[in-house]
Amino acid sequence: MSPQTSSSLIPSYARLPVSFVRGEGARLWDDEGNEYLDALGGIAVCALGHAHPDITRAISDQAATLLHTSNLFGIEHQERLASRLCELSGMEAVFFCNSGAEANEAAIKLTRLYGHSRNIDNPRVITFNDSFHGRTMGTLSATGNPKVHAGFEPLVSGFVHVPYNNIDAVAALAEDPEIVAVMVEPILGEGGVVIPDDDFLPALRELCYQNEWLLIADEIQTGVGRTGHWYASTGMGVIPDVITSAKALGNGIPIGACLTRGVAAGLIQPGHHGSTFGGNPFATRVGLQVLETLQRDDLPQRAKSGGERLQLKLNQALHNRPEVVEIRGRGMMIGIELDTDCSTLVKAGLEQRVIFNVTAGNVLRLLPPYNLRDDEIDEIANRVTRSIESVCQATDATPA
Ligand SMILES: Cc1ncc(COP(=O)(O)O)c(C=O)c1O
Repeated sequence: MSPQTSSSLIPSYARLPVSFVRGEGARLWDDEGNEYLDALGGIAVCALGHAHPDITRAISDQAATLLHTSNLFGIEHQERLASRLCELSGMEAVFFCNSGAEANEAAIKLTRLYGHSRNIDNPRVITFNDSFHGRTMGTLSATGNPKVHAGFEPLVSGFVHVPYNNIDAVAALAEDPEIVAVMVEPILGEGGVVIPDDDFLPALRELCYQNEWLLIADEIQTGVGRTGHWYASTGMGVIPDVITSAKALGNGIPIGACLTRGVAAGLIQPGHHGSTFGGNPFATRVGLQVLETLQRDDLPQRAKSGGERLQLKLNQALHNRPEVVEIRGRGMMIGIELDTDCSTLVKAGLEQRVIFNVTAGNVLRLLPPYNLRDDEIDEIANRVTRSIESVCQATDATPA
């Protein structure tokens, strides 16, 4: 593996000593010709795998036709993608941007407009401990993780953090006249693939209706079919007022979307918000193709059945390992919780030629493409198992 240091980069990432130069389907090749199975998909981005021919064709056609104009003009693909997203999600109007954080930033700006429309001068939003909403000042302030805040104080005001999956903690704020919205991940992603109780999201929905709060589902990680539904919240029987989406929507082309309905759809007026690149002809053409291919090949359903198979294989292989606390997930979003910090596992995975990451310190996370074949699923399970065994056996052998 080649070293990955460059003195000309700001060292914002702790990079691994491997660099990929080519991909195809669920496979990646490094610059020394080694082949890996990709069970991370660029952190929930490459839902269709690498170099998918449909996406390659859409990219090259559109690059040869028109990349960018400006939101000063009509953009046909943007209109079409908005209408497809609305059909798939139950939402009514979409704002396009370039990333997950930007989609959430748009949602946060909506809550301010909403609050002011109700004559609330200092509107506040409930968010959850262990959540992750992005790295801009607004979204990091919304994030319920002190590590993400550290060094960036003063934070943006207007967020109240409460424990996840605790409806009483939310209900206790019902008397607060400044609260205008709740922002929630239907499943915590960076927080460790934490699945709330079945009644948590429906109960949140009800509380939001009762108190005239907007319900914002951050589906940057869970959205676009990953959990077996186009959006995890709607799969849980809930229609939010706002859904934010990014990652898999572009399969690697940067795109984000803030989907709205009802009162939330009418808040932003010309001059309130914008983005130079957001929703340009190129990104939205690719987004349209991603949705078309996912739908044509029934891939949200495949994410569900493939994810069930992957969990089953992992359970069969790992049920006897005392370090494994729990294997959990929905569709192609799976976490293996270990009883101790396991960041060294990622390197063990690279040695086994499988790519995953570790989040929340002790959760090995898998976010693979939805279109994995059964043999690839089984091989990922084998390699992940060998990675865990190699680290745990090495730990067992360490003298006290
Ligand atoms: C739930 C959630 N929200 C927001 C973000 C931020 O997205 P981006 O990195 O595209 O800004 C992420 C990224 O991991 C995420 O998982």
